Amino acid sequence: MGTTIEPFLFSRRTNWPLESNRLTVDLQCLREKGELLLDLTESNPTHCGFHYSQESVLKPLSDKRSLDYKPSARGDFRAREAVSRYYEEKGSRVSPERIFLTASTSEAYSYLFRLLANPSDHVLFPCPSYPLFSFLGNLNDVRMENYPLVYDGKWGIDLQAVQGLFCADTRAFVLVSPNNPTGSFVKRQELEELNVLCGLHNTALVCDEVFTDFSFDKGQGRFSLVDNDQVLTFVLGGISKTLGLPQMKLSWIVINGPEGLVKKAGSRLEVIADTYLSVNTPVENALASWLSRRKEIQKEINLRLRQNFAFLKKETGKTRDCELLPAEGGWYAVVRIPDTFNEEEWVLAFLNKDHIFVHPGYFFDFDREAFIVMSLLPSGQIFQEGVRRILRRISGKEL
Ligand SMILES: Cc1ncc(COP(=O)(O)O)c(C=O)c1O
Repeated sequence: MGTTIEPFLFSRRTNWPLESNRLTVDLQCLREKGELLLDLTESNPTHCGFHYSQESVLKPLSDKRSLDYKPSARGDFRAREAVSRYYEEKGSRVSPERIFLTASTSEAYSYLFRLLANPSDHVLFPCPSYPLFSFLGNLNDVRMENYPLVYDGKWGIDLQAVQGLFCADTRAFVLVSPNNPTGSFVKRQELEELNVLCGLHNTALVCDEVFTDFSFDKGQGRFSLVDNDQVLTFVLGGISKTLGLPQMKLSWIVINGPEGLVKKAGSRLEVIADTYLSVNTPVENALASWLSRRKEIQKEINLRLRQNFAFLKKETGKTRDCELLPAEGGWYAVVRIPDTFNEEEWVLAFLNKDHIFVHPGYFFDFDREAFIVMSLLPSGQIFQEGVRRILRRISGKEL
């Protein structure tokens, strides 16, 4: 009698559809042919022609202290003091005791979902937003549900819809400020209402502020949730955006809220962090020096973002076919394009015919078509040429 061999079983949480989508296949094909593409999705600041001084980025990594290993669950104290100073300079008092270092913001989300939720507990996150959220939820066994951001000339949280989404096992409410890709910051009144809802449901607030140093205007009334002590609150920040150094892998979590809860959360988070100890010593030792010079790179990046955004505004302003959605900050721009074709058809035409790569709105779960999302990081030359070709195709009204 033959024995049947059962197929090897992987976890259900990794049952992702792994086939490449049409856009990825076409992109790969063009790259293999050696075609020159203008990539308006480029989000890696180290590939966008910014000036990174070898001296100020690499020298701090050779600190003699890095020959010694002194593991610390919350992260090296001096590095946490440097993060504390960063907030102080922005007008917020955050003691190093309230700061945890992690290797990335994604890792910080994992720690927090592990801290707050049992398997299949509920977490609310914004829509449209960053596509990685569904993977982060999946990998940490939480039930992720979107709450809508609505656009009526400006973006805001649909608070009425949000009220109906809270349930008994809603463990965390995620905010992204400014949001990727809508560029919208959380507003005071939104926070006040969310504090009430989170208080009623014993839900923690998690606010991702990785893009907070990048705004397109002076931004009256902008604030950080590191000062929010109404409910248990976790703020995420990190150097992949703040310093334009994604390769250095360092982020942080700031805890705030009612004192007793902050203490309890901190002790549990400490055990989670101690289990991994994933932050590396040379980067911790370099952090104070890097942060002290952050204005240099931020000035360059902010200038690029503002110039590209202004160019896009000017060019889209010349036609009724498109609308640039207003953004307050972040690294992205959203443009509404005609719905005479669907997003997929448009972005494939931009790619294959114009050699421009942009993301379709559906990557970010926009509730309707047709939108495209562009990174504002590429050099002015690439960005402007890319925008011109896109607008030319749209005005031609043909694919
Ligand atoms: C909103 C948001 N949070 C976090 C991240 C990732 O940050 P990190 O590189 O620290 O994991 C991104 C990356 O684009 C992002 O868009």
